[in-house]
Amino acid sequence: MTLALPPVGYDPALERLEIELLLEGVFRHYGFDFRSYAYASLRRRVWKRIEAEGLSTVSALQERVLHDPDVMNQLLLDLSVNVTAMFRDPSFHAAFRRLVVPVLRTYPFIRVWHAGCSTGEEVYSMAIILEEEGLYERARIYATDINEIVLQQAKAGIFPLNRMQEYTENYIRAGGTRSFSEYYTAKYDGALFSPALLRNVVFAQHNLVTDRSFSEFNVILCRNVLIYFDKELQQRVHGLFYDSLATFGVLCLGSKESLKFSKYEDCFEVLSQTDKIYRKVK
Ligand SMILES: C[S@@+](CC[C@H](N)C(=O)[O-])C[C@H]1O[C@@H](n2cnc3c(N)ncnc32)[C@H](O)[C@@H]1O
Repeated sequence: MTLALPPVGYDPALERLEIELLLEGVFRHYGFDFRSYAYASLRRRVWKRIEAEGLSTVSALQERVLHDPDVMNQLLLDLSVNVTAMFRDPSFHAAFRRLVVPVLRTYPFIRVWHAGCSTGEEVYSMAIILEEEGLYERARIYATDINEIVLQQAKAGIFPLNRMQEYTENYIRAGGTRSFSEYYTAKYDGALFSPALLRNVVFAQHNLVTDRSFSEFNVILCRNVLIYFDKELQQRVHGLFYDSLATFGVLCLGSKESLKFSKYEDCFEVLSQTDKIYRKVK
């Protein structure tokens, strides 16, 4: 992403006030709550949208966003950072096979929640692992995101063909044993993933900031989402995950995220510090 910044001489205190007012307006008018997202990254993304709209102040963007839902949708895409990949961090996926799959084998029924699943690459990766481990039939995967547009893409299951080389390497490093190309068919410049991988998947819009939990899960994956939240909001969401996990349920975070210094830290044991895999123990 290009680094967008305010014009030279823009008063930082005024800028902060305007950004707070913009986020307050977005929340009160549209219900999307970005008020506790980490400021530095949020600020860059707001300026990116200001530039793209040909504007020069945050207040001008606020005016446009509040009166034009299309601009709100654009801002939502900017703020929600949808970068993702299949078998992202292969070592995490290998650790999942090694440490979590044996536990899941002992369950008659497995409920998995991908919170902040973006365009679904993470969900297809998990479906492939569960399929290969013979656990897919007893699994239900709930895949949620704040952003309806990425969920539509996830359901379609078409990913750029030019990323298949990278994904094949990730798949092998993650412990995959088949030929990765079994899972998709090439169509023009897209790779269409087998719709059968979605037979036990439910996609739904869910906002981690404002919505409640909807079930008892054996596994929750929320990777590379909390990094955009401030400490207080991260902790609130840790609480949401704690409440949503069954006893001995597993929580998987992104490589730059952790439960360290969270008040929920003691409720979990660490299964892998490097790969950020935790198990609820009390
Ligand atoms: C960087 S992507 C991570 C995707 C995937 N989990 C991964 O690790 O590759 C972050 C996702 O979190 C979603 N997100 C951001 N804020 C959210 C919120 N409040 N509730 C639910 N999802 C949110 C974004 O829409 C985006 O799709």
